[in-house]
Amino acid sequence: MDLGIKEKKVVVTASSKGIGFAIAKRFLEEGSIVVISSHDEKNLQKAYEKLKEYGNVKKEIADLSNPNSVKNLIRKSVDIMGGLDVLVYVTGSPKPGDLLSLKDEDWSYAFNLLLMSAVVAVREAGNVMGRGGRIILSTSMTLRQPIDNLDLSNVVRLSLAGLVKSASREFASKGILVNGVMPGWIFTDRVKQLVKDRSLRENKSEEEVLQDITKDIPLGRIGQPEELANVVLFLASSLSTYITGSLIPVDGGVIKAIF
Ligand SMILES: NC(=O)c1ccc[n+]([C@@H]2O[C@H](COP(=O)([O-])OP(=O)(O)OC[C@H]3O[C@@H](n4cnc5c(N)ncnc54)[C@H](OP(=O)(O)O)[C@@H]3O)[C@@H](O)[C@H]2O)c1
Repeated sequence: MDLGIKEKKVVVTASSKGIGFAIAKRFLEEGSIVVISSHDEKNLQKAYEKLKEYGNVKKEIADLSNPNSVKNLIRKSVDIMGGLDVLVYVTGSPKPGDLLSLKDEDWSYAFNLLLMSAVVAVREAGNVMGRGGRIILSTSMTLRQPIDNLDLSNVVRLSLAGLVKSASREFASKGILVNGVMPGWIFTDRVKQLVKDRSLRENKSEEEVLQDITKDIPLGRIGQPEELANVVLFLASSLSTYITGSLIPVDGGVIKAIF
């Protein structure tokens, strides 16, 4: 099926690994031109080597904790590709911790990493995109259901719901659709890190922690990054023309809230 994204110019942030990598790969498989990005030169090069067999991939270093770096990323990507049709914003992971353990500097860092980088990326992209442009933010299930000991995500990332809504209204008249996805548990290095962290805190084996997580997921398993990537692809595709300002859970049913 033609998704209408062949030769579209796409930026995927935080894409050297995990969710961002899987999204970049799916766009390349569909014939898009993709700029991948991360803040670690070696990881980015490794991802680039893996992805180049799938299509026309470019790379650009950017640190999402630094708003200027994000601005440069979007501007350079536009120069490299000659325009921008799709921005997929993914970000690095906030440090685990609760109110009593996190320090003021952790909150400031998370503010830049999780929120300011998204504001700058969305603003810069919305400024250069033409009609048919798509902005998709990969957020988290924590927008609907907090996860214990992930307070930076529970609190700071919540603002992305407001960003998606505000940007969708502001850019609608320009023909740009803005949406988000809310991953539940998706099997990546991040999940391995969280499982390890929880196994130490709760004095359980990593297998027991994984079982605890899985038993709360109605579909009975952790998701694969490609399952999230396919939803992002749909939102970027010509099949999606009347959805904007929405946040779609991709969570195997784990979010209990109705709205
Ligand atoms: N996996 C899940 O179940 C899940 C669920 C909900 C939300 N999330 C969120 O989704 C995002 C991606 O998670 P993931 O599971 O794909 O994690 P991951 O496999 O650990 O990948 C994280 C990616 O973020 C990049 N990154 C980290 N810090 C960065 C920075 N300062 N600037 C630019 N890039 C940076 C990393 O690249 P470099 O190290 O090469 O820079 C890497 O490409 C995270 O925010 C995570 O909290 C994940």
